[in-house]
Amino acid sequence: MSAELERLKEASLEWKVHVLGGPSEPRTIVDGREGVIVLCSNNYLGLANHPKLKEAALDAVREFGAGSGSVRVIAGTMTIHEELERELASFKGVEDSIVFQSGFAANAGCIQQLVDEGDLIVSDELNHGSIIDGCRLTRAERTIYKHRDVDDLKRVLETSGKYRRVLVITDGVFSMDGDIAPLDKIVKVAGDHGAMVYVDDAHGDGVLGENGRGIVNHFGLEGKVDFEMGTFSKAFGVVGGYIVGDQIMKRFFLNKVRPYLLSGSHPPATVAACIAAIRLVREDRKLVERLWENTKYFKSKLKQLGFDTGNSETPITPIMVGESSLAQRFAEECLGMGVFVLPIVYPMVAKGKARIRIIVTAAHSKEDLDDALAVFQKVGMKLGVIH
Ligand SMILES: Cc1ncc(COP(=O)(O)O)c(C=O)c1O
Repeated sequence: MSAELERLKEASLEWKVHVLGGPSEPRTIVDGREGVIVLCSNNYLGLANHPKLKEAALDAVREFGAGSGSVRVIAGTMTIHEELERELASFKGVEDSIVFQSGFAANAGCIQQLVDEGDLIVSDELNHGSIIDGCRLTRAERTIYKHRDVDDLKRVLETSGKYRRVLVITDGVFSMDGDIAPLDKIVKVAGDHGAMVYVDDAHGDGVLGENGRGIVNHFGLEGKVDFEMGTFSKAFGVVGGYIVGDQIMKRFFLNKVRPYLLSGSHPPATVAACIAAIRLVREDRKLVERLWENTKYFKSKLKQLGFDTGNSETPITPIMVGESSLAQRFAEECLGMGVFVLPIVYPMVAKGKARIRIIVTAAHSKEDLDDALAVFQKVGMKLGVIH
């Protein structure tokens, strides 16, 4: 263990965990320092500390207790677990949904059940680690296609005739670059070759589509994507993964997914906060609008300052800096000036593609954003990222 830790340290890969001394808010206490502007949370809509979510969680504790008592299939399904699945299905405009402990558990647990020996998984080269782990748990063969490259996907699918089943998997919004999968084209090409499609919309739900209904709605693909996965840990501000679809899908996963069958279900407070989050997003259309207003404002200002924001099309905004050490230095300097951002370095991204990953939320005020921009300008000039 120590040798491995030494290796991580030498490669600048050992995590330094920064600690929040208060709720996830646009400004909070970080490592004991007050008023730090947070630009690296996934709390897109600012719901993590929303009074309605907190109230719902407290009410659920009073009514149902602190824990669920079991796994879902034994004695760990309460009426609120079922209410959440109905609420989510209604928000997404589908027949039913199934909720897991996390998005990671959903990917790790579901993908492995969809394919087996004699099948093929075709995965975008930049898919999230939880998809990669889900794929590793199958006995199916696995191959990748070039990032967002539908011609390359087609090339792979043209040679897939010998497999019994083929599953194409993609992130909806790519978590490091903020670009969007061409899901309409992927669905078409997959359909032409008899392949199924699985989309991980962790960063699209609450962000893309009409009132945050996600990537399937964004492309008008309702009913055409075989498996639509998402999470409550980002825009919805809580925790929990899910797949939405029809009742057959739900019955299949309910009987097959190991984290669902073998690991404790969500505590009541979590479930109730998730229900409250969906209701809020449905009722308050301004949340998603504000997220996009802030995103557009911040991105345009970054570009005016001369920063390279890569191919981002969503609130996930990278500032491309190149070398890993430079990204780390950039983030440290920002934190020193009261702005919390995350350096993303090799091997999380390719060598020479290190970046600062920023996520603006609906809750940031213009003042928060302007103060952060002033810090980026200073740090960018000091480190020669902009001139
Ligand atoms: C694309 C993607 N999928 C899945 C996950 C896992 O979601 P969760 O935090 O709910 O486990 C993440 C989280 O980082 C993600 O970015």
